Amino acid sequence: MAETINQGGVRRGHRAAVFDLDGVLVDTAVHHRAAWQKISAEYGFDLSAETAEATKGVGRFEALDLVMRSAGIKLSESERMTAAARKNEYYLDLIADISPAELLPGAVSTLQSLDSLGVRIALASGSKNAGGILDRTGIRDFFDAVVDGTVVAAPKPDPAVFLEAARRVGVSPADSVVFEDAAAGVEGANRAGCTTVGIGLPAVLSAARLVAPSLLEVDWTAFFGPAGV
Ligand code: BG6
Ligand code: MG
Repeated sequence: MAETINQGGVRRGHRAAVFDLDGVLVDTAVHHRAAWQKISAEYGFDLSAETAEATKGVGRFEALDLVMRSAGIKLSESERMTAAARKNEYYLDLIADISPAELLPGAVSTLQSLDSLGVRIALASGSKNAGGILDRTGIRDFFDAVVDGTVVAAPKPDPAVFLEAARRVGVSPADSVVFEDAAAGVEGANRAGCTTVGIGLPAVLSAARLVAPSLLEVDWTAFFGPAGV
């Protein structure tokens, strides 16, 4: 059964919602994983579930290094460049027809509700492909700021992408709630001083303040309702 945990201490009065993209708003984490599996197969091994999970949220090259290390393979610098570029080609092929149908449960209703409450909304994604996905799924207009892998180079779990997202919407990290599906993202958001909501499994996202199976199960009024109510 789907499990929702609330580690307590949640307070109202937050003023910004900062969303990861892949695996939180859009069902693209599966495509990243499939592209890494294809690369793994080319090098003669199967991508384990554990390694696939570890690639979530981290940058393209960091993910490549995790994948290769899991099979004891050391690539030269030029092989790294080629393999990372090929993974991205596979990924772009997989998302070539992406549409609003790939938005995850609760994504649009959450964005609409927060927007109507006047909550500032930002994207904090490590992906260089985020902009195209926002456009093709039709959700770009919900965002007051878009910070992605083309803006901030330091990959999660570095807190920089979350700090920049909060800065661009003019809200302190302490008043920002981050929604993340990756352990690296939860760690980065915690390091930034944000309140973290994990979307996925408690076993993977135990460092988050609250974990829910999808955005549908998150009681966002607990974070964004008026302070003191
Ligand atoms: C994150 C994904 O959003 O972006 C990671 O969760 C991915 O799996 C990272 O490695 C970088 O993405 P891209 O699209 O620039 O290779
Ligand atoms: Mg993600």
